[in-house]
Amino acid sequence: MTTNDSSSRDEDGTQVRITPSESMERSLLIALGVLATVVASYIGLIQIPNWQVDRLEPVELESGGVYPPERSQMARRGKEVYEDLGCMYCHSQQVRQNDFGSDLSRGWGMRASVPLDYVREEPPLLGTMRTGPDLRNIGARQPSKQWHYMHLYNPQTTSPGSIMPPFRFLFRTVPKEGMTKIPDGRIELPEDYQVPGHYVVATERAEALVAYLLSLDHQQTLPPNAQRGTDPEEVD
Ligand code: HEC
Repeated sequence: MTTNDSSSRDEDGTQVRITPSESMERSLLIALGVLATVVASYIGLIQIPNWQVDRLEPVELESGGVYPPERSQMARRGKEVYEDLGCMYCHSQQVRQNDFGSDLSRGWGMRASVPLDYVREEPPLLGTMRTGPDLRNIGARQPSKQWHYMHLYNPQTTSPGSIMPPFRFLFRTVPKEGMTKIPDGRIELPEDYQVPGHYVVATERAEALVAYLLSLDHQQTLPPNAQRGTDPEEVD
């Protein structure tokens, strides 16, 4: 039944005529209802969370230092490389609570992520796809630079059968001939993957990307209020 019907039936089945002005009133009411729903959702789902997160500041820890720590220039550059190469289309960066999934039992973190973990990130790279594992704490889980270089150069070297694409263009080859010393940033590849007569060397982009991956360590235990993810100054 549409709102433009000029008649309808009341409870005992008798036909009731709806005047054009009543019909207009109904349409207006429906339009207002739709508008109220959209506005309420916008405020509740976007404005209020945004306002709560905006007020968050890094916290001082009892053990000294601040959390989250500032990233090095190199790691900040690496975040741009990560965004540029679309790592986010296969990797999330958010550890869910136990009631929402098995992230913690998979070893992707020691605690669930909270808004405070992202205060220095513009934009935060939460991601929605998990073709590969969550990387929020990869720096703690896999702290070896060499491992990351090998894995990026060719994921098969560290993870046989991996479906992650190789990012070989982040590396260059340098002929061994005439070199008096081993170049910095050389990756030590297994024999089957070596390039005969050449060193495989990380480019500046690969170094930055790996610095960023190693900076992904958000396992810090937080003060109770910060842990809840709201304003750390707020007292219950
Ligand atoms: C097409 C999907 C895909 C893309 C794009 C992708 N990955 Fe992966 N990644 C995977 C899969 C699948 C795995 C698990 C197998 C493995 O270790 O290679 C993985 C594993 C990893 C791991 C190891 C995680 C662990 O817990 O051991 C790291 C680190 C990683 N990827 C980094 C990256 C970075 C950095 C980029 C962007 C340059 C990237 N990935 C792009 C699919 C992808």
